[in-house]
Amino acid sequence: MRIQTESRFTELLGIEYPIAQAPMILQKPLVPLASAVSNAGGLGSLGCAEMSINELEQRISEMKAATDKPFNLNFFLHEAPTFDPVLDEQARSLVLPFYQRLGLEMPTNTSDTEAETFDTDKLALLVSETPAMVSFHFGCPPTQVVEALKGAAQIN
Ligand SMILES: Cc1cc2nc3c(=O)[nH]c(=O)nc-3n(C[C@H](O)[C@H](O)[C@H](O)COP(=O)(O)O)c2cc1C
Repeated sequence: MRIQTESRFTELLGIEYPIAQAPMILQKPLVPLASAVSNAGGLGSLGCAEMSINELEQRISEMKAATDKPFNLNFFLHEAPTFDPVLDEQARSLVLPFYQRLGLEMPTNTSDTEAETFDTDKLALLVSETPAMVSFHFGCPPTQVVEALKGAAQIN
């Protein structure tokens, strides 16, 4: 039996199967998993939300060494949060009863943020690296960003 795998999605991305790996921040293993999916004919994804520009460049180069197939780079698109101690205290007192009920210790470090937001340096890198797909979480990028990425990938 032959399964129909061609679709607009496979055609646009140049992949064999219409299957995209869910991008995950802090995914482990990162490049081995994503490149295995791409090499198997799906769309491997790198969750890039926590990456600095240097790490991003490094991971793209590792990915290109591990596969010559298309892949997706995924970013968070949020405003960088500022730590608000009053809000933090309110949030902590709301969840404290749940921690107590489960006998868990309340974490102390709340001012760190793992996720870096998308910026113009990352956009410039993507325009030069032309990944098959760039996807965003927590928002839609402005039209100029979409146009810049489409222009680099030569998609109309
Ligand atoms: C641990 C974890 C991390 C995730 N990180 C991201 C992320 O960085 N970017 C994103 O767009 N979605 C992220 N997601 C959402 C997944 O990509 C996916 O959309 C979601 O799990 C729903 O797919 P599923 O129904 O196959 O589980 C994450 C999900 C999990 C479980």
